[in-house]
This record gives sequence, structure tokens and C-alpha cells, in this order.
Amino acid sequence: MKLFEPLDINGMIIPNRVLVPAMVTRLSGEDGLVNDDIMDRYVRYAEGNVGLIVVEAMAIHGANAGPLLRISDDKFIPGHTELAKRVHDTSDSKVVPQIIHFMKIARSGWRQTPDMLSPGDIDQIIDEFGDAAYRARQSGYDGIELHAAHAYTLAQFLSALNPRRDDYNGRTLEGRLHIIGRVMANVRRKVGNDYPVGIRILADEYVRDGHTITDSKLISLRLAQLGCDYISLSVGGKFDDAVHTPGEILHGYSGYSGDRCMPGANYPDLLHVHLADEIKSFINSKGYSTPIVTAGKISKPEHAKMVIAEGKADIVGIARGLLADADWVTKVRDGREDRIVHCTYCNVCKELDGAHKEVHCFLWPKHARQAPPDKMASDVPTWGNDAGDLNAEWQDSVVTLKWSKAEGNVSGYDVYRADDNGEVRIIDAVKGTRVVDRAVLAGMSYRYYVRAYDSAGGASVPSGSVQIDPAIPDYANEVA
Ligand SMILES: Cc1cc2nc3c(=O)[nH]c(=O)nc-3n(C[C@H](O)[C@H](O)[C@H](O)COP(=O)(O)O)c2cc1C
Repeated sequence: MKLFEPLDINGMIIPNRVLVPAMVTRLSGEDGLVNDDIMDRYVRYAEGNVGLIVVEAMAIHGANAGPLLRISDDKFIPGHTELAKRVHDTSDSKVVPQIIHFMKIARSGWRQTPDMLSPGDIDQIIDEFGDAAYRARQSGYDGIELHAAHAYTLAQFLSALNPRRDDYNGRTLEGRLHIIGRVMANVRRKVGNDYPVGIRILADEYVRDGHTITDSKLISLRLAQLGCDYISLSVGGKFDDAVHTPGEILHGYSGYSGDRCMPGANYPDLLHVHLADEIKSFINSKGYSTPIVTAGKISKPEHAKMVIAEGKADIVGIARGLLADADWVTKVRDGREDRIVHCTYCNVCKELDGAHKEVHCFLWPKHARQAPPDKMASDVPTWGNDAGDLNAEWQDSVVTLKWSKAEGNVSGYDVYRADDNGEVRIIDAVKGTRVVDRAVLAGMSYRYYVRAYDSAGGASVPSGSVQIDPAIPDYANEVA
């Protein structure tokens, strides 16, 4: 399989194997209505030819939740209809909403857990999922995605920590799956069998005593048996280990499991692909070919191509990488990979989401509300006669790099490093002309160069390079 090979998901043909997973934008008001900024965000991904666009989590019920999209009433249908139409008018990209139910949380740190829901509450949730799915179909979306991941209601039932002891018993896999089975049955009753219904679950909860791949393989098998049309895998993002700031509502991404869900710069690339690989092999061995989506620090073109070519997943999810550069797909398709604006996983977007503030990317030009347009122009930034005058200094166990400003429309600088003359990789992206590299082990050799890029990712040629060979400290001098 290839990254640019189309895929038929129950009649929805996605033009390539790249999916932008749901990412809350906080662009909606408290009214939950689709507005122009939200439409622009998703049209931007369509302009960039993303195969499948998953619109941010939207509530199927009326509970308070600050700025969050909603699909909990027919009054929301016109906005969603316009969003879906504008995406379809833009390109072949397909678009599905992620539909979510969440339980109550309070500023005191208290949160509702599955055992607090009555049988009537559960019936209502099942009805609400079905009604929301029906509204999605009425709105012209190509399908839907059920949110059964992170800290939200369906995931809390699926969790190994589910405290219920009845038909939805947290001690048995069947008990944990019960609500999903009923939700799927009702959704199918409302939208029919010919409408794509995907689901997002956790391949690993990444909390103590939470479920791991051992259970998620079996959960995925059941989802395939239930007729889910794709299974999108995430990890972590739980309330169980969230850090509570007094007076503020609990944020599901503030603990270790949150770090795993939106891994920062300190985590390796492709860190969750092995989970998708194992789940895909398992369900395939049981005769199911339900497409599996993997996500988590996949933004290098060669990595995305490898995941698909080696069959580790059927679709790659690129969230923050596509927020940084909505034209990633087009640039890779057209062989303009050197023009990609690479996500640095600084997680400013994650912090904004947590603070309920409008989510944007740190790498966008100041005050931009959307990723800047892709322009083919060749007037990329240039270096003066000093070729950037890059200097590196080794002091106090860090390398400090300084260079001179590039000329032209400069929006930032990518810093490249090769260790021991090996593979060159980007280690940072900054707006200024100075970087401190702390990830340096003395005794190795480091070569650096810098490229200036404009707002569309058009990069200068590399600056002059500089090499530094810090010596291993002489600990013998420190013997008392
Ligand atoms: C700002 C932000 C908002 C997110 N909102 C959602 C969401 O609404 N639903 C969801 O399933 N995941 C959400 N995620 C998680 C992403 O979909 C994705 O799984 C995660 O960022 C890892 O992928 P990446 O390394 O490509 O960014 C969000 C992530 C970020 C950064």
C-alpha cells in the first residue's frame, strides 16, 4: 500500500491515507454553533488535500462545557451542513464529525464516574448518540466518528478502572463493551448500514491499572465484529492521573497519560505505531480488515510512507503536524517536502486547548487564526554574504547557536543537527536568531546548520554549517 492510494471506507472513498484527527479549536462560542472561523479551519485542511478530516469533538448532549461545538439539537444542523458543503466544494477530502458524550466535572476536582449513572441515564446517552449520528447524516457529512477515547463517557465504560458491577461491569470485558454495543446498534438503526461509522479508542490508557494493548486487541476485534468502519487509535488523556489546580476544572491532558496522548518534543517519533501494528495484525488474523488509524508524532514524510508501505496501519493520523502545515499532504504529493513547516511538538496548541483559548500553532505568523496559504513563489528568504554567520559555543554543558538574520519575509528558522555525521534532523524551530541545545552528550560530534523559512514553509538554502566536538568531562579531577 502507498500513502497516496485511495481507500474505500464503507463507500466513502478517501483520496489518500492521511487523516487529520479531531483537534478541538476553541473557535466556537459557548453557543456551540459552527461559525466562519471553524469552517475556515476545516476548509484549510481540504485545501491541503487531507484524505479524511475529522471535525473536532462535538457534544451530543446539552451539558455545560465552555466553548465547544455541538450537534445535540436540530438547530445545529444548518451550520454543519454549510461546513460539510464548503469542505466538499474545496477538494476530494472527506469529512466526518467526532461525536462525544462526557460526564460532569467540577472545579472542586470532583468528577462523575460511570457508576453514578442510572440505567435511565445510560438509555439517554444511547439515544443521544443515535440522534447525533442521524443529524450528522442529515448535514451531509461523509460519516461519523464515535469518541470512545480519553476521559469521556464511552472510554470510562471501556476502562479497566470502570467501577460498575452490573450489566456494564468493569471487571469483565463484555461488561465494559456493553454500552458501545448498544450505541452501535442504535446508531446503525438511525443511519443505516451504508453510512461510515468510525470509532476512536485507546490502544493503551497509560494509567496505573488501566487497560493496555492486551485488552485493546480484543476491544478492537469486537468493534470490527460490531461493524465499525474504521478504528482510530489514541492513547492516554485520562482524568485518573490528571493534575488538579484548585478552583479550575480538571484537564484530562495534564498528567502523564496526557503527555502520552499529545507527546511533546522529548518523546521519540512514531511512538505509538507498534500498538496499531499489533492490533491490525490481530484483527486481520481473525478475518477482519477494518482500517486502523495510528497517530502520535508522525510528521516526517518518510515515516508516514513507511507506516503504510509496511502495513503497520491503514491510515496515518497527523494532528499537530497538520495544524502546523495544512498543506503537508500536497507538499509531499508534489515532491515539495523541503517546504513543509515542521511541527516542533512544543505543545502551545495543547496548552491553549487546556486553557479554553483559541487553538493556534506557535509556528504560524503572529495573530494568524489559520495556517497561512501555500504559495509556490520562489522568493524564499535568503542569507546575506556571510551565509548566516552561524556560530556554536560549548559552555556549561549546552551548545549555544547564534546566527545573523536572513533577508526577506522570514517567519522563523529551522535548526538542523547531524550527530557523528549521521542523519540530519530538525531539532528546533524558533522565531529569533539564537538557540540553546541542551540535548548534547559530550564525546560525540555535532554539526549544525539553520534554514530560514517564510510563512508558507518556503525555506532558504542552508546557512553555513558549524561543527562542535565537546570533550568528555574529566571526572578524575573531581575525586576528593
Ligand atoms: C489542541 C488539541 C486538541 C485535541 N482535541 C482532540 C479531540 O477533540 N478529540 C480527540 O480524539 N483527540 C484530540 N486531540 C488529540 C489528537 O487528535 C492526537 O491524537 C494527538 O495530538 C497525537 O497526534 P499528533 O502527534 O499527530 O499531534 C487533540 C490534540 C490537540 C493538540
